[in-house]
Amino acid sequence: MSVSAPMASGKKPPVRVGILGRFILISVVLISLLLLSISLNRTNSASSSYATGSDENIHDEHIVSVSLHRQHNINLPKQNEVSEMLEKRNDLPPRNLDLYPSLPKDHVVIVLYVHNRPQYLKVVVESLSHVEGINETLLIVSHDGYFEEMNKIVEAIRFCQVKQIFAPYSPHIFPDSFPGVSSQDCKDKDDANEKKCVGNPDQYGNHRSPKIVSLKHHWWWMMNTVWDGLKETKQHLGHILFIEEDHFIFPNAYRNLQLLIKLKPNKCSSCYAVNLAPWDVKTRGEGIESLFAERMGNIGYSFNRTVWKKIHNKAEKFCYFDEYNWDITMWSQVYPSFGSPVYSLRGPTSSAIHFGKCGLHQGQGDNNACIDNGSVNVEVQNDDRVVSISPHWDVFFYDKQAGYKAGFQGWGGWGDARDHQLCLNFASMYHQ
Ligand SMILES: *[C@@H]1O[C@H](CO)[C@@H](O)[C@H](O)[C@H]1NC(C)=O
Ligand SMILES: *[C@@H]1O[C@H](CO)[C@@H](O)[C@H](O)[C@H]1NC(C)=O
Ligand SMILES: *[C@@H]1O[C@H](CO)[C@@H](O)[C@H](O)[C@H]1NC(C)=O
Repeated sequence: MSVSAPMASGKKPPVRVGILGRFILISVVLISLLLLSISLNRTNSASSSYATGSDENIHDEHIVSVSLHRQHNINLPKQNEVSEMLEKRNDLPPRNLDLYPSLPKDHVVIVLYVHNRPQYLKVVVESLSHVEGINETLLIVSHDGYFEEMNKIVEAIRFCQVKQIFAPYSPHIFPDSFPGVSSQDCKDKDDANEKKCVGNPDQYGNHRSPKIVSLKHHWWWMMNTVWDGLKETKQHLGHILFIEEDHFIFPNAYRNLQLLIKLKPNKCSSCYAVNLAPWDVKTRGEGIESLFAERMGNIGYSFNRTVWKKIHNKAEKFCYFDEYNWDITMWSQVYPSFGSPVYSLRGPTSSAIHFGKCGLHQGQGDNNACIDNGSVNVEVQNDDRVVSISPHWDVFFYDKQAGYKAGFQGWGGWGDARDHQLCLNFASMYHQ
C-alpha cells in the first residue's frame, strides 16, 4: 500500500487507490481512533512526570493556544475528534528531559518524518541509537496518520530528547471528509459536470487521491510547523536535519554533519544546504579525498532558517505545481526560482542511505540496502563510526547534473483546488 518511494529517479505517476483501499483506510482510522483514546489516557498519566510539574490534562483547551500560536482567521478544514486530539498532543513537551535536561547551543535538530512502516522505523531508530552525539540533540518525529505500533517504537526511545508531532490534517485521519475523501468527491477520471461531483482533475484528467496527496501535505505541514510553529524550534536559527522512515543513519552522521555545517560558509558560499548522502541515491559516494557540491538530495538534507525563509517565500510555487512529490516540486519549481544554482555540500562517503524492501527495486546496484523480516542488510564499517571528512579537502562542483529541473511539467496528482488551498493555509497558519 506504500506510495512513498522517495528516490531521485524512477518516480512513476500516482497509483490510484480502489474501493478496497478506501475500505481498509477507513477501518484503520476507526481502529486507530479507539486505540488513540486508550493511549491518550495512558500518555496523560505518564506525561505528568516530565510536564513542568503541573498535572495538565491533554484535553485542556489552553494548551493549544499557549504554544502553537496558530492563526484562527485561516480557513483550515473542520477538524474531527482525532484531529483535535492529535493537535493537542503536539504541545506535549519532549520526552527524556530528565535524562537530557539541556542541549548544547549549536545542536542540530533532527526531524524524522514517518507514515506507517513500523519494521522500517525500528531499523532507523536502532541506527540512530548508535549515532555519536545523538544525545546532544532533540529528535522530532513527525507522523502522517496515527498508528499505535509506530508510537510504541518512538515512545521507547531513551537515547535523546524526543518529541512526537502528528499532522492534524492528514488525509489518513479524515474518513469521510476533506482532506480525506467524502461521498461527493469525484473519482479517477470522472467528469465533474456530468457526475455533479466535487473536485478538479490534474493535468492528466485524474481526480485527487488522499493517499497520494498526503505525502506532500505532510512534508509541507511538517516544515512549516517545525520552523514556525513549535515552541521548541521556532527560535532555532541553525540547521535542522531531515530524514525519513526508510533512511539508515550511520554512527558518524551527526559529527560529519556538524563539520560540514562549519565548513560550508568558507568552502562553498553557493551552498544552501548540507547533505549526508549523494543526490544520486544509487551510489554511496566517490570515496576519494574531496568534498562535493551538487544538487540538493532527498536523503539526510539539512539547512538553516535563512534557507527555510526563502523556501517559505515560494509557497505558491510549491502549492500550485501539479506534482504530488514534494522533492520533485522543490527541484522543478522552488529551487530554480531562487535565481542562482542551489548547491548542497557533502562528503565523499554517505552517512545515511535509503533502504527498501529486498527484491522490489530494479535497476539498482548491488550495494543497495534492503530489509527483510525486520532486519536490514547494511554493514557498518569502522570508517562509518568516525568523522570521514577533512577540513583540508577542496570542493568539487558537479554542474549540469541530470534530473528534474525547471520546465518539468509534473507527474500530476495535485490538481484539486482544495489541496492547493490547504497547502497555502499551512504556509500562513503561523504568520500574521
Ligand atoms: C552522550 O554520550 C556520550 C558517549 O556515549 C557521553 O560521554 C556523554 O556524557 C553523553 N552526553 C550527554 C549530554 O548525555
Ligand atoms: C544559513 O545558510 C545560508 C546558506 O548557507 C547562509 O548564507 C546563511 O548565512 C546562514 N544563516 C545563518 C543564520 O547562519
Ligand atoms: C522472512 O519470514 C518468512 C515467513 O516468516 C520466511 O518464510 C522467510 O524465509 C524469511 N526471510 C528471511 C530472509 O529471513
